[in-house]
Amino acid sequence: MTETSAHLGLGDSKVDLPVRKGTIGPDVIDIGSLYKQTGAFTYDPGFTSTASCESKITFIDGDEGVLLHRGYPIEQLAEHGDFLETCYLLLYGELPTAAQKKDFDYRVTHHTMVHEQMSRFFTGFRRDAHPMAVMVGTVGALSAFYHDSTDITDPHQRMVASLRMIAKMPTIAAMAYKYHIGQPFVYPKNDLDYSANFLRMCFAVPCEEYQVNPVLARAMDRIFILHADHEQNASTSTVRLAGSSGANPFACIAAGIACLWGPAHGGANEAALNMLMEIGTPDRIPEYIARAKDKNDPFRLMGFGHRVYKNYDPRAKIMQKTTHEVLGELGHKDDPLLQVAMELEKIALTDDYFVEKKLYPNIDFYSGITLKAMGFPTTMFTVLFALARTVGWIAQWAEMIEDPQQRIGRPRQLYTGEPKRDYLPISKR
Ligand code: SDX
Repeated sequence: MTETSAHLGLGDSKVDLPVRKGTIGPDVIDIGSLYKQTGAFTYDPGFTSTASCESKITFIDGDEGVLLHRGYPIEQLAEHGDFLETCYLLLYGELPTAAQKKDFDYRVTHHTMVHEQMSRFFTGFRRDAHPMAVMVGTVGALSAFYHDSTDITDPHQRMVASLRMIAKMPTIAAMAYKYHIGQPFVYPKNDLDYSANFLRMCFAVPCEEYQVNPVLARAMDRIFILHADHEQNASTSTVRLAGSSGANPFACIAAGIACLWGPAHGGANEAALNMLMEIGTPDRIPEYIARAKDKNDPFRLMGFGHRVYKNYDPRAKIMQKTTHEVLGELGHKDDPLLQVAMELEKIALTDDYFVEKKLYPNIDFYSGITLKAMGFPTTMFTVLFALARTVGWIAQWAEMIEDPQQRIGRPRQLYTGEPKRDYLPISKR
């Protein structure tokens, strides 16, 4: 990429720092030599102005509300393709041919079973354990089973581990759900596609045949596409940092799941639905809008705002359309939660506070209503987010491992603690 340079004066030192241009999006100032040249660090605790890596996978334009995966707009991928096609695109960088797609689907389908011993891990948890706690534990435990795909220096083992993660997450997520509700585990069926298989593993019971509703399977698949990857978000950055130490991919994905759980991140879909249920009726919306604006009230409108999007999250628009499809199919189009959500969105989008701060609905605002209507408890919402984001995590992890510039991530700090002082015996304190 063509380079120019940025000039920085600090005390007596003046440094020229190379500026690099990407294909699209903001330039970056390469500060790699800054400390050596000036003895100073940069300071950016929330990484609001920091590019942590170079990547070719996903591009977001927050001001325009644009999301591209390998250059393809999310709207087109969600409209025309399926989740495994998006997985192939994220992993390999190109849309698959028909033959490549058939082969990829076959390979993923034939990795969906987990080692039978895995089922023993679940019995150690309380039935009312949050399914995300179960996911962190069981996904981390995969590295105890699949020693033949933990050598990160072997490209073949990296690809096998990637396929295993994508293939097994639905099975493990469904097992976490079944354990949570006290029903027997349901094995994957190879004659079902990815999302239909997942719905069946969640909702089938041994007492009767389970017919997958194609409208719900398509909606599930589209929800997975919308959650697949999102540049260097908190959980992806966690996976990259964990992977930079050489930790195995299963352990890195478990770290990503742990980070996603937070209500400011992937936990927002669960928090957003709980918020809508707490509001209950449209007449109570003004009270909550006032609380969201009150500096002394920690309450925030869950499902609103985004670090990058200062426009409508393009995923949220597609999510809203999917919500209407699912509620229509299930005969819930008058769902009071949807009424509250649509009224809340309408009010918030015209309120000066939200307009000035550019707070728009994000993907988590509508996903919860849809997932609840499909039969999932709120505790499972972030599990579904983690299931879908696994492909993004693993694609970004692989890109980091294959980057010749890759080295262990080790940030520095601004130290504001005590200067050096001598130990005092307890008798003198
Ligand atoms: C995801 O990074 C990603 O890409 C994440 C994600 C992905 O796909 O990986 O897109 C998924 O995590 C979506 C975001 C889900 N989180 C929520 O919906 C939780 C509610 N949203 C907020 O907590 C917040 O908007 C964040 C965490 C999403 C973003 O926080 P920032 O960028 O640090 O912004 P901020 O907290 O500094 O807020 C800026 C201002 C503040 O007011 P001031 O201090 O400037 O006066 O906006 C206010 C905030 O108080 N604000 C809100 C608000 N979000 C921000 N006020 C009320 N309600 C909100 N939701």
